[in-house]
Amino acid sequence: MSKRVRTAVFPVAGLGTRFLPATKAMPKEMLTVVDRPLIQYAVDEAREAGIEHFVFVTGRNKGVIEDHFDKQYELEHTLEQRGKSAALAELGRELPQAGQTSFTRQQEPLGLGHAVWCARELVGDQPFALLLPDMLFKANPGVLKQMMEAYETTGGNIVGVEEVDPKDVSSYGIVARGEGPDSGFKITGMVEKPLPKDAPSNLFISGRYILQPEIFSILSEQTRGAGGEIQITDAMQVLIRSQSFTGVKYSGKVFDCGSKNGFLTANVVFALDRPDIAGPFLAELKKLKLV
Ligand code: G1P
Repeated sequence: MSKRVRTAVFPVAGLGTRFLPATKAMPKEMLTVVDRPLIQYAVDEAREAGIEHFVFVTGRNKGVIEDHFDKQYELEHTLEQRGKSAALAELGRELPQAGQTSFTRQQEPLGLGHAVWCARELVGDQPFALLLPDMLFKANPGVLKQMMEAYETTGGNIVGVEEVDPKDVSSYGIVARGEGPDSGFKITGMVEKPLPKDAPSNLFISGRYILQPEIFSILSEQTRGAGGEIQITDAMQVLIRSQSFTGVKYSGKVFDCGSKNGFLTANVVFALDRPDIAGPFLAELKKLKLV
């Protein structure tokens, strides 16, 4: 039986330059889709998949993420006094339990692979999930949960993938698909940000992974890849020589909230999915003749 995945790593050290000036003093992971910060969606998805230890790889100016996952006594006291019991219960539900969060720092922006490597001591010698909080999913059950189901059958390493317009392959990691169904097929290779003519498919790595700890010793070689950065895709391409990689073409859709277009679209889609917001929001858009 495969070893249970209890730990998830959230790389949150990125500078968020694409969202300046919004991200000058605020981490991009705290940008909100409707009324929840992006990082909260990723943590909720991990919790739904059975994760019990939440490891954040942070950087400068990211202290507010730590505060977000802490108790806020003054706020809770005020909500209690004002009888706002629903809001109070909601805050409590979202909070990881005491001792379930860990924080470490990526001291230099050397790439996603380097950020993951920074978590090695906190993760230890066990499989772990990796969630990129920029990538927000509309999926039920959540994408990581769907991947956990595949993991229970296959073990090894699991990568979540989705189709992308072939002209956009050079923005992402792309996998080569071998045998097997959408719910779990063999990955035969991976390449980071290929030119369209070199892409092995149009299945892109959408920011959810289950990885075995052997990835850390590969990352410790600090080999630079696409964009001069230490890439997780390159390390996986080495690990695939000795371990299995299974692709899961999950049911659901990703919104790339690292881009303005993806972020704004996510806000509209998530708002229209909320029973308390959809009606008045649509009415307003109609009044403005936008729909
Ligand atoms: C990273 C990964 C890439 C993946 C993408 C998903 O790239 O390296 O393989 O497809 O996240 O967002 P980045 O967005 O950091 O350039």
